[in-house]
Amino acid sequence: MSHAKPVYASFRSIGAFIPEKILSNNDLESMVDTTDEWITKRTGIKERRIASDDENTSDMGAKASQIAIDRAGISNKDIDLVICATVTPDYFNMPSTACIISDKLGIRNVQAFDISAACSGFVYLLSLAKAFIESGMKKNVLIIGAEKFSSIIDYTDRGTCILFGDGAGASVISATTNKDEGFVDVHASADGSYADFLVTPAPGTINPVSQKVIDEGLNFVQMKGNETFKLAVKTLTKDVKDILRKNEIDSKDIPHFIPHQANYRIIKAVGDALKMNKEQVVVTVEKYGNTSAASIPMAINDIYESGRLKKGEMMLLDTFGGGLTWASALLPFEGNNI
Ligand code: UT7
Repeated sequence: MSHAKPVYASFRSIGAFIPEKILSNNDLESMVDTTDEWITKRTGIKERRIASDDENTSDMGAKASQIAIDRAGISNKDIDLVICATVTPDYFNMPSTACIISDKLGIRNVQAFDISAACSGFVYLLSLAKAFIESGMKKNVLIIGAEKFSSIIDYTDRGTCILFGDGAGASVISATTNKDEGFVDVHASADGSYADFLVTPAPGTINPVSQKVIDEGLNFVQMKGNETFKLAVKTLTKDVKDILRKNEIDSKDIPHFIPHQANYRIIKAVGDALKMNKEQVVVTVEKYGNTSAASIPMAINDIYESGRLKKGEMMLLDTFGGGLTWASALLPFEGNNI
C-alpha cells in the first residue's frame, strides 16, 4: 500500500506594484489642517502613493501578480487558484477583483474569489493558501493584496487622509514535499464586537446608495484612530509573542519582522516588546503610508528588491485591521535570490 507524501505550502515569490504619483505631507498641509511635523511625529509617514484614474485595484493587482508569477519561475497556466484580499474592489458587489485579475493575466477556468479582512487580508490569504495546498486541493496559489484606498478616503478628514495610500503586492504559494520549505505557522483571528472602530458605512445593505450616502459622505472610511491604535499595540504584541512561543522560536533568531505598516509608533512598540533590533524590523510606512491588504506584500517586496531578503530566511509577519481582524505568520522565504 502506498502512502502519499505530506505536502506543505511554500512562499515562492513576491511582486508589487507601486503607483507613481506621490502625495506628500506638504501636499496635505494645503488640503487639511495638519502639518508635516505632526504627521511625521505621530505616524512616521512622510508620503504615500496615489493610483491614477485608470489604475484600478485589478490593474495594480494584475501587475504585481505577473511579477510574482515570473519570479516564481512558473507560467500563468500553472496557477490553479487566485484569491485577492481587498476592501477597495473594482466593483463592490460583483464580479470579484480576483476574477478581473485572472482575466487580465489570461488565467481562465480556475477558481477565483476575493476575501474581505481589511489590513489583515494578506496574512489571512496565507492561511487559505496553506489550507488549500496542504489538503491537496491546489498546487500553485496566487494571492494578492491590492488596494485603491484613496477611493474611499475623505480628503477633508485629517484623521484618516494622512494615513492611507494605494498599491498592490502578490505572491505565489506552491506545494512542496520538503518540510523545511513550508510555512511554520499561520494564525488569523477576529473580534466583530469592535466593528465600529474602522468602518465604511456605504455602499452595503445597511446603507444602499442614496442621496443621504452622498450628502453625509457615508462611502468614506470612518476610524476611531486612538482606540484602534491602543488595541493594535496590545493585540499585536500578544499575537506575535504567542506564535513565537508556540513554535519555540526566539525573536532574536528572526531576521525579518515584517509588521503591517499602519503607524511607526505601533511598529516600534511591538518591535520593542519583542526586543527586536532595527535591522530585524522592516519599515516602509514613511514612503507608502498604510496600504491595507497591500502593506505586508509591498514591504516584503521592498526588502526582496533591495537584496536584504534571501532564500531560506525566516519571516515573521503580523497585522491588524478593520473587523477587527488580526493575524500573524512564521514562514521561510523560498523565492529565488534577486
Ligand atoms: O491599519 C488599520 C489600523 N489602523 C491603525 O492602526 C491606525 C491607528 N491610529 C493611529 O495611527 C493614530 O491614532 C492617528 C495617527 C490616527 C492619530 O494619532 P493619535 O496620537 O492617536 O491622536 P488623537 O486621535 O488622540 O488626536 C490627538 C490630537 C487631537 O487634537 P486635540 O483634541 O488634542 O486638540 C486631534 O484632533 O491631534 C489632533 N489631530 C491632528 N492634528 C494635526 C488628529 N489628526 C491630526 C492631524 N494633524 N492629521
